[in-house]
Amino acid sequence: MIGQDIIYAKQQLEEGLLVGIPTETVYGLAANALNQQAVTRIFEAKNRPSFDPLIIHTSSWDRVEQWVQDIPPLAQQLAEQFLPGPLTLLLPKRQLIPDIVTAGLPLVGIRIPSHPLSLSLLEQLDFPVAAPSANPFGYISPTTAQHVANQLGQKVAYILDGGPCTVGLESTIISFEGGLPKVLRKGGAAIEDIEALIGPVQVFAHSTSNPQAPGMLKSHYAPKVPFHLGQLASLLTKYQDKKVGILAFQKGVDEASVAHQIILSPSANLREAAQGLFAAMRTLDQLPLDVILAEPFPEEGLGRAINDRLRRASASA
Ligand code: TXA
Ligand code: MG
Repeated sequence: MIGQDIIYAKQQLEEGLLVGIPTETVYGLAANALNQQAVTRIFEAKNRPSFDPLIIHTSSWDRVEQWVQDIPPLAQQLAEQFLPGPLTLLLPKRQLIPDIVTAGLPLVGIRIPSHPLSLSLLEQLDFPVAAPSANPFGYISPTTAQHVANQLGQKVAYILDGGPCTVGLESTIISFEGGLPKVLRKGGAAIEDIEALIGPVQVFAHSTSNPQAPGMLKSHYAPKVPFHLGQLASLLTKYQDKKVGILAFQKGVDEASVAHQIILSPSANLREAAQGLFAAMRTLDQLPLDVILAEPFPEEGLGRAINDRLRRASASA
C-alpha cells in the first residue's frame, strides 16, 4: 500500500514491520533499528548479505548522542552545516544499537534525511530506523514510491509516498577514524563542499579485493541490460549492430542503432542530472535493448558521485 499516512507508517514500524520511506537522496527500507527481528526483515526483504551494515536515521542531531559514544569536532562541524541533508557520519556506536545493524562493526552510520514527511515520521518515533536503499541488493536505488512498490511491494507493510527524490544519489558517507576524515562513498553532498568546511579529506578509492563494505563493491547499482561506460562515439562504433540505449549528460547522438536515448540535463546541470539518473537507468533497463551506453560526467561536484555509480553499473557488463 502506498500513501501519505504518517500515523499508519508509525504503527507499522512500532510493530516491527518494514516501511518504505522517502528521503531527499533515495527511498529507504525502514525498520526499528533497536529491534533485532525488525532489522532481520530488512536483510531478508533485500536479499542483502548480513555482513553489509545499515545506516540509522533520526529526526534531529540532538538525539544522536543516545546512540553514539563520541562525536569528534569535525563530525560536529559537518552536522551543523549539512544536516538534515545527504551526508552520513560514521561514529562509534553504543551498545544499545544491535550488532546486526552494523554487521558487527564498531561504527554506526548516522543520517538525518532532509525530507518533510520522513522528518515528521522520525520525530514521532522513540527509536531510530535502520534504512538501506529500498531496492533488491545490487540493483539500482529507487527514487520514487512506485519504484519501491514495483520491486519490494509484497515485502513492505506500507510505502510512504513523498514524491520523487530531489537529490537522486545516496548520501555521502564519511568516517573519522584516527581523527582523519575519509569519504567512503561519494554521494549527494559534494566533496568540494565538505572540504570547504573542514579542509582536505581522503577519498576512498574502492578496490574489489578488499571492500570495506559491500556498498563499495565494484559492481553495484547494476541494470540487467549490459551497461557500458565510455566515449559515446567509440562505443557506438563498437556496438553498431546492437540495439542501443543511450544515457547522455547534455547532448544526444544521432545514430541509426539508437533505439532510445535519455538526456539527463540539456543545460548541463549536474544536480538535475543526478536527480534523474536512477530513474533513467531503470527506464532504459526495462526496454528491449541489447546494451546501454553511458558517457562519463565532468569529474566535479555531483559529477564525481554520478561517475562512481556509472562505473559500478558498468563493472559487471
Ligand atoms: O542516502 C542514503 O544513504 C540511503 C537513504 C535511504 O538514507 N541509504 C543507503 O543505505 O544508501 P544503503 O544501505 O543502501 O547503503 C549504505 C552503505 C552501504 O554500502 C554500507 O556498506 C555502508 O553504507 N555502511 C553502513 N554502515 C557502515 C559502517 N559502519 N562502516 C562502513 N560502511 C558502512
Ligand atoms: Mg543501497
